[in-house]
Amino acid sequence: MQGQPGPQVQTKDQLYLNGERSTGQDVRTQNVTAALSVANVVKTSLGPIGLDKMLVDDLGDVTVTNDGATILAQMEVDHPAAKVLVQLSEMQDKEVGDGTTSVVILASELLKRANELIKNSIHATTIMTGYRLAMKESIKFIKEHLAVKTEKLGRELAFSVAKTTLSSKVFGRESDFFATLACDAMSLVASADPDTGKMRYPVKAVGVMKQHGRSFKDSVLMNGYVLYGGRAGQGMPRVVQNAKIALLDIDLRKTKMAMGVSVVVTDPKKLEEIRKREADITKERIQLLIDAGVNVVFTTKGVDDMAIKYFVDAGVIAMRRVKKEDMRRLEKLTGGTMLITFADMEGNESFDASCIGHAEEVSEERVCDDDHILVKGGKSTRACSILLRGANMHLLDEVERALHDALCAVKRTLESASVVPGGGCVEAALSIYLENFATSVGSREQLAIAEFAQSMLVIPKQLSVNAAQDSVDVVAKLRASHNAALVDGSKASLRYTGLDCVSGNIQDNLAAGILEPALSKVKMIQFATEAAITVLRIDDMIKLNPEEPQQ
Ligand SMILES: Nc1ncnc2c1ncn2[C@@H]1O[C@H](COP(=O)(O)OP(=O)(O)OP(=O)(O)O)[C@@H](O)[C@H]1O
Ligand SMILES: [Mg+2]
Repeated sequence: MQGQPGPQVQTKDQLYLNGERSTGQDVRTQNVTAALSVANVVKTSLGPIGLDKMLVDDLGDVTVTNDGATILAQMEVDHPAAKVLVQLSEMQDKEVGDGTTSVVILASELLKRANELIKNSIHATTIMTGYRLAMKESIKFIKEHLAVKTEKLGRELAFSVAKTTLSSKVFGRESDFFATLACDAMSLVASADPDTGKMRYPVKAVGVMKQHGRSFKDSVLMNGYVLYGGRAGQGMPRVVQNAKIALLDIDLRKTKMAMGVSVVVTDPKKLEEIRKREADITKERIQLLIDAGVNVVFTTKGVDDMAIKYFVDAGVIAMRRVKKEDMRRLEKLTGGTMLITFADMEGNESFDASCIGHAEEVSEERVCDDDHILVKGGKSTRACSILLRGANMHLLDEVERALHDALCAVKRTLESASVVPGGGCVEAALSIYLENFATSVGSREQLAIAEFAQSMLVIPKQLSVNAAQDSVDVVAKLRASHNAALVDGSKASLRYTGLDCVSGNIQDNLAAGILEPALSKVKMIQFATEAAITVLRIDDMIKLNPEEPQQ
């Protein structure tokens, strides 16, 4: 390696590298600093009084958002440890949908405290064991003491959860409206699992469309899956009842010979025949569809005038350039299968009727100056769409993200049937409980568990800081209530005490309806601990210099 360009770093153990190597405390401090700076970015957006961030990417596109995962995804961080946190919020977004800000803040606090412990000569392995133990205890405590099982799942409850999630987003005060919308949408798509009989609430079955103009109070829920775009030809029927749907990834235009094919023709008549044959291939394909009884055709590719004519004659609705993503949802909705070719094993062309999907009705409707195709009442599942209105696209994008969070929260609540009070309630309760628990552990892990308990408080602290309140005061009051609940059996109801950022009171958040799905809290603690451990495990970082381009 000697003689190569670039700095040659020689470390104590005689490792020759074209790059840098840092070990031990150096690398830990570096990683923790990186993680903290990531958390610092999203910190102020936590909670109902949290503020928004404006992000401008290298192309000049602007995003205004409050959603932790979106902020971090847009930032394109470079440091490997910071990337762990970015992926963490991404994972929370995928698995739970909400709580992406909290999870990052918690993970960075855990790291910060772990680093301090390491500086005080506690071995990283001890800390990791302690953190794992604390995590397990926390989850047990949430499930046994804080989660409120709701026997009969009221719509009211789902509404409260959706409202809590939405309260931290752009339209904060209008959260009632969107919470209703989210609950209605979820109840429209609910279906029972055929195997287990449990109810399922697929978030993906709720399509979201955005049209700017009017105010967001004019957003509406539509029963049926909506696709952007209209019929391919005006002569096609507007409505087809009892639809038999073919989903194709096939071009329905005049077939052309592939590029590079050359055919030498000496007789001009033959040339005409080739042209005719080219047109006939598509005609035969369309005839196959019509013979199978298909009355609605969706294709991801094109449909030309000739094909439109055949479809119009047969009274078929055809739609072209449908997005692949929509196709996948249509497959689920109608029970059909998307075909990529008509060819069968023998080399002939045929259309298998079992690929046909079914729906009660397919129609074209005009929504805000644009045509949309509406597919209602699918065979296997149901779908609905929400049409969002708003002043500009930035706002609409943010409303869409907020609505997604709310839909996920409603799904989690209805599926897992248990909720916990929000507003720092769970975190404060856990900090008291874990502190007590730590004293019962007679080994070095005790210190790590105590720090874990302290880390939990970062959420109520940040919530009150963002709400312009005295965080020391608020946290002290919260902890006093939770301590009373834990030691005095007669005051057990105090364990639902949390902070209301809007009014600034310490109150019973269960009664006040500031609720979150229990699962979202459990996952948050799990993911944050795991991410912190991932970073803590690193004690050596070797970073190679990028290769210089060869001249
Ligand atoms: N009215 C309220 N009073 C106090 N705290 C609240 C209130 N409403 C929500 N919260 C708390 O705010 C926190 C959620 O804030 P926010 O939605 O900004 O962050 P997140 O859910 O972690 O991340 P994101 O929504 O960006 O994915 C939760 O801890 C919740 O308990
Ligand atoms: Mg949220």
